Amino acid sequence: MAIDLQRLRAETPGCRHVVHFNNAGASLPPQPVLDTVIGHLQLEAMIGGYEAAAKAEEQQANVYTSIARLINCAADEVALIENATRAWDMAFYSLRFQTGDRILTSIAEYASNYIAFLQVAQRQGVEIVAVPNDEHGQISLSALRQMIDGRVKLIAITHVPTNGGLIQPAAAVGEVARSHGIPYLLDACQSVGQLQIDVEAIGCDFLSATGRKYLRGPRGTGFLYVRRALLDKLEPPFLDLHAANWVAPDRYEMLPDAKRFENWEKSIAGLLGLGAAVDYALALGPAAIERDLREKAATLRQRLGDVPGVTVRDIGQEKGGIVTFTKEGIAAEQIKSALGDARINVSVSGRSSTYLDMTARHLSEVVRSSVHYFNSEDEIDKLCEVVAAVR
Ligand SMILES: Cc1ncc(COP(=O)(O)O)c(C=O)c1O
Repeated sequence: MAIDLQRLRAETPGCRHVVHFNNAGASLPPQPVLDTVIGHLQLEAMIGGYEAAAKAEEQQANVYTSIARLINCAADEVALIENATRAWDMAFYSLRFQTGDRILTSIAEYASNYIAFLQVAQRQGVEIVAVPNDEHGQISLSALRQMIDGRVKLIAITHVPTNGGLIQPAAAVGEVARSHGIPYLLDACQSVGQLQIDVEAIGCDFLSATGRKYLRGPRGTGFLYVRRALLDKLEPPFLDLHAANWVAPDRYEMLPDAKRFENWEKSIAGLLGLGAAVDYALALGPAAIERDLREKAATLRQRLGDVPGVTVRDIGQEKGGIVTFTKEGIAAEQIKSALGDARINVSVSGRSSTYLDMTARHLSEVVRSSVHYFNSEDEIDKLCEVVAAVR
């Protein structure tokens, strides 16, 4: 199915107010997401929060089914968690490490994940090894294969880094992980909603995602996928009365499914909004979304590359919707601010978000202009004009 730009823009109220190239920060939600969230908040105000949740029980169950369709898993392998970081944490901190164990990751790893690695390394004497990049700037598969030995207890990478267009070869990494029986945790925060995601094809055991970015859902929503085969073996770092039942004075029983990674209190309006966002993406078709936004990002990359003084900073063989750049002699914040004056939203990614990658590339900051399918060519041109004019 082709993307109907006019229709999609008409269904996105924010398009009437801003030119939005901050989809990797938080995208503009479409009208059905807005209606769902507001509708549920109104119901809560009218009849009470618990009563509204009870009325929306079936709708809540449908959110799991929709996410399962989106990433090709079973509904009971999905946990709804308030953001991608907590979703990732719940998986990571469920794993038990011993002194001398190794975690293999990538150069482009996200700060929050790496900080968690460092914490576990300090506490438990685990070694963190960032697999070097290949000549394209993506994780080197041959280096990864060479590093596999009995000490490796986890492979954890970020599918699409926060600071660029790179799409890591997640399925090829999955093949290595599977063939050695090593747990594989994929941070898909920037890729879900942007790329077609199939956990079977990727071969990951865990996948974390957020609602507000490329999925266009509400803030404060996210989810975790946990492969069924691992579920029984894992005890989440936190358990509450939703994740487990207190069945005897000295005993609890965890839920048998991925809900053991959840907690009880959550924004029901938010999670229903997340469901609406997933349904919206499913209706458009993840393949069509990926094709369209990658084409638009390629156009933006090319036009920005033509602007004097601009260097596009994206690396990797396969590139997605995040377009990053610098302009000679001009701070990223100045560019962001000039764009902001023209009501064009972008963000700045600093070194500390992806420390290893930025340091290796001698970058302290980049402007991040992240494209979605609802961006028009006209908007791409406007962005480039403003960037060209910044002095
Ligand atoms: C690659 C990556 N992982 C994780 C996160 C964290 O997501 P959240 O803010 O939903 O916890 C981000 C946010 O920018 C990200 O870019």
